Amino acid sequence: MRALVLALHVTLIGAAAFAQSAALSGYEFMEPSTRELQDDNFLNPGIFLLDEGSALWSRPLGAGSETCQSCHTDIAADMAGVAARYPAYDADLGRVVSLEMKINAEIAGRLRGKPLEYESDDLLALTALIGYQSRGMPMEIDSHPEAVYLAEKGKEIFQTRRGQLNLSCQNCHEQHWGEKLRGDTISQGQINAFPIYRLTWTDVGSRQRMFVWCMESIRSEPYEYGSDEFIALEAYLAVRGQGLLIEAPGVRR
Ligand code: HEC
Ligand code: HEC
Repeated sequence: MRALVLALHVTLIGAAAFAQSAALSGYEFMEPSTRELQDDNFLNPGIFLLDEGSALWSRPLGAGSETCQSCHTDIAADMAGVAARYPAYDADLGRVVSLEMKINAEIAGRLRGKPLEYESDDLLALTALIGYQSRGMPMEIDSHPEAVYLAEKGKEIFQTRRGQLNLSCQNCHEQHWGEKLRGDTISQGQINAFPIYRLTWTDVGSRQRMFVWCMESIRSEPYEYGSDEFIALEAYLAVRGQGLLIEAPGVRR
């Protein structure tokens, strides 16, 4: 009897999850060969970031001798689930920040060091390392009013047509996902795998580098890295992709 109840329970949970699973990871749209690259740590070209990140984690990045490791001694325990809930409202900073901004705030604030540049190897490495501690965990959303407000802004940005091609993010990633575009299969434009190693870039990139790429591909002027607009887009995409499992560091075509 207990087993039956349990089985039913599992089925119901499964059904509920399925009903809500309108969100699909970009992984679902990839060729098997690209999936294999992501799944196998020996093949995944983004994995080197974890070694680089670990080295930085235990290196003084500022004026003193302290490192990230000094305070966050058990990274697996301390950073589990962290990447899955950014962007998030940060009480100390009094605003919603991306994970990259939070890392830089820790470097500047606690280590008295110089913030890292967007898309620098070092910032990507730390982001990937922290992201990896959430691999397989579902993206959660921040319910702080500031984060909710920003996600609403992000939705507007997502739906606004722009550029010479006069397209919105929504036009491709909601109305045409699953279709082919210049060799790519358009996915839902989810952010659960970042930072990613992108084969077309032969390089790694952040969520915001992807936004820049998409904006440039419709011949529009991209927003600045770290801009309110990009944080808003991240906040909205987090809401939209709620529940998707973190894949960092991901691999994409
Ligand atoms: C002309 C169609 C088009 C438009 C418009 C567009 N994108 Fe994309 N986007 C793509 C293609 C093609 C890719 C690469 C294949 C894929 O993952 O969809 C991509 C990839 C992405 C990804 C990575 C998905 C993953 O799983 O790695 C994100 C995130 C994304 N886009 C966000 C956006 C945002 C935000 C906008 C609006 C500022 C936007 N895109 C506008 C075509 C578009
Ligand atoms: C002097 C101690 C100290 C140092 C050094 C330090 N941190 Fe932290 N960090 C904290 C405390 C305390 C918190 C807030 C409590 C928590 O979430 O663990 C925090 C929070 C964080 C968070 C947010 C966690 C969350 O739940 O949102 C991240 C990410 C983070 N630190 C990364 C780093 C990185 C990367 C470094 C090195 C560049 C670093 N920290 C260095 C003490 C420190």
